[in-house]
Amino acid sequence: MVINSAEFVCSNTRVDQLPEPKLPEYAFIGRSNVGKSSLINALTSRKGLAKTSQTPGKTQLINHFLINGNWFLVDLPGYGYAKTSRSNRADWEKFIRRYLTMRENLQCVFVLIDSRLEPQKIDLEFCCWLGEKGIPFMLVFTKADKHSKLKSDKHISLFKKELLQWFEEIPTQFLTSAETKMGVEDVLTTIDEINGKFVAVKQSV
Ligand code: GTP
Ligand code: MG
Repeated sequence: MVINSAEFVCSNTRVDQLPEPKLPEYAFIGRSNVGKSSLINALTSRKGLAKTSQTPGKTQLINHFLINGNWFLVDLPGYGYAKTSRSNRADWEKFIRRYLTMRENLQCVFVLIDSRLEPQKIDLEFCCWLGEKGIPFMLVFTKADKHSKLKSDKHISLFKKELLQWFEEIPTQFLTSAETKMGVEDVLTTIDEINGKFVAVKQSV
């Protein structure tokens, strides 16, 4: 998919203040510092669109970006940020979980996972929560450029093995790097396909 335009729309913590749910929407979530904002910039080929940082906890709000005038990319704050206070974490839980469960035009959640790490409990638990809520998601392994493909493959296969204890089917996975743009086109192609179905459903009603 060619990205002709990518514009920041708004930042929010409240679901009732989000843009009208008329366009297909895709949210990026995962542990703090896993590379959500960087991947959004790689997908849109706009370096400064989403704010990135070496320090975890950079993204604090629900950030909407309008792409090609016909779909939304959403950058979310990360979970598992150790320095966040307990009350902050509770707030995160509330507004992010509310967003994820109530956003009617949300087509897919991309759960980002650091490809350098063995399966982490927090990521597995989050995937299970999405499963329980019936929220469609896919797995995006990040930072592939930082180590060998062999290691990424090992971590992906371990993660899938863990998930199989809870899920009958493993969601689609991508191995990506915001640095080299590995996997970026695959994610965009998937979004394009889902966008096509969204339009088809809209036209049929
Ligand atoms: P929060 O908003 O704090 O939750 O973090 P985030 O998940 O949005 O991470 P962000 O995109 O800000 O990236 C965190 C750090 O990882 C930055 O220093 C990025 O440059 C680096 N980074 C992200 N993706 C990649 C990647 O694919 N390769 C490499 N080498 N570095 C990456
Ligand atoms: Mg971020």
